[in-house]
Amino acid sequence: MQLTTHNILPCLTTTKLTIVSLFLLFSPSRTTSQACKNTCGTIPIKYPFGTGSGCGDPRFQTRVTCNNQHLTFITHTGSYPVTDIDYSNQIIHITDPSMSTCTCTQPSKGFSLDWDAPFTFHDNTVFALLNCDVTLSPIFKSDRNNDSVSPACDSTSGSRVCERLNSCQAVSRLGIPVSTCCVYAPVDLGPSFEMDLRKLNCESYAGLYGFKELPDNPDAWKYGVAIKYKFNFDNEYPPMCGNCEKSNGVCGYEGPYNSFVCNCRSGINSTTDCLFEATWNGCSKFLHNSNDGLWMYALAWLLTWMLV
Ligand SMILES: *[C@@H]1O[C@H](CO)[C@@H](O)[C@H](O)[C@H]1NC(C)=O
Ligand SMILES: *[C@@H]1O[C@H](CO)[C@@H](O)[C@H](O)[C@H]1NC(C)=O
Repeated sequence: MQLTTHNILPCLTTTKLTIVSLFLLFSPSRTTSQACKNTCGTIPIKYPFGTGSGCGDPRFQTRVTCNNQHLTFITHTGSYPVTDIDYSNQIIHITDPSMSTCTCTQPSKGFSLDWDAPFTFHDNTVFALLNCDVTLSPIFKSDRNNDSVSPACDSTSGSRVCERLNSCQAVSRLGIPVSTCCVYAPVDLGPSFEMDLRKLNCESYAGLYGFKELPDNPDAWKYGVAIKYKFNFDNEYPPMCGNCEKSNGVCGYEGPYNSFVCNCRSGINSTTDCLFEATWNGCSKFLHNSNDGLWMYALAWLLTWMLV
């Protein structure tokens, strides 16, 4: 067959179209398809936490979740906003919207961790149970009659916490005697400890930390709960995950065998790290930062070329 202008034209156009499509496909794009994010709202997310299924350590996935950019801590007693995560000391700070503080008192059902969750209370956490029925509450009974029965009120630093809390305007307005307040040192009680205020015959509670630093200033205490977490039994940071994070990836575990994946910025999952992206990034950074205009110019030129 003879090659004429007539039958070569559609062929050429197809080639041109393909080139333009490829050009558009590889044009720098600022959106990524990364399945696991490294932030939730303003909170940085690192191992063992994750922003979705397959991200972070599976044991943490249902306990700390990211919904609409809100990081939430979940136990059988409720869902609690996470205020921050102290990665170097392995502490999560949460708040409970139903608890009382120096500025506000309200009835609450209590707070508990799940017994099978990888969390414990941090030593700094203090629970002050407020407005308890001294005659009915088992905590007061055990304190008076039998020292060996726990839980019992902490009568040393505890009375100080109760006194100071009672000096807060919101608490003093209730007009309840300091003697109806009981302080728990939850560390001793372990994760299976249930703070069920109805059973304990207490009206509300305040969870706080930062008491040791400023024992006399209840306004300066942080109201919430400080919770410790461990990576695993030996509390060892998985080295694979460390390498993945160093290369800007997010650690995840996927599939029926929870195999390690390093979720990279481009959305590609690697079994090691995301160092391969560094070269791409250099490339696209060049195009983004210095030459967005040039890119558009090149695109316009290509389109013109295609049409002639
Ligand atoms: C990459 O890994 C993440 C996290 O485990 C997963 O959600 C996602 O589906 C994976 N993506 C691909 C393309 O395999
Ligand atoms: C205190 O309680 C413990 C455990 O319930 C019991 O074994 C012990 O006899 C009690 N002591 C007194 C003085 O009642």
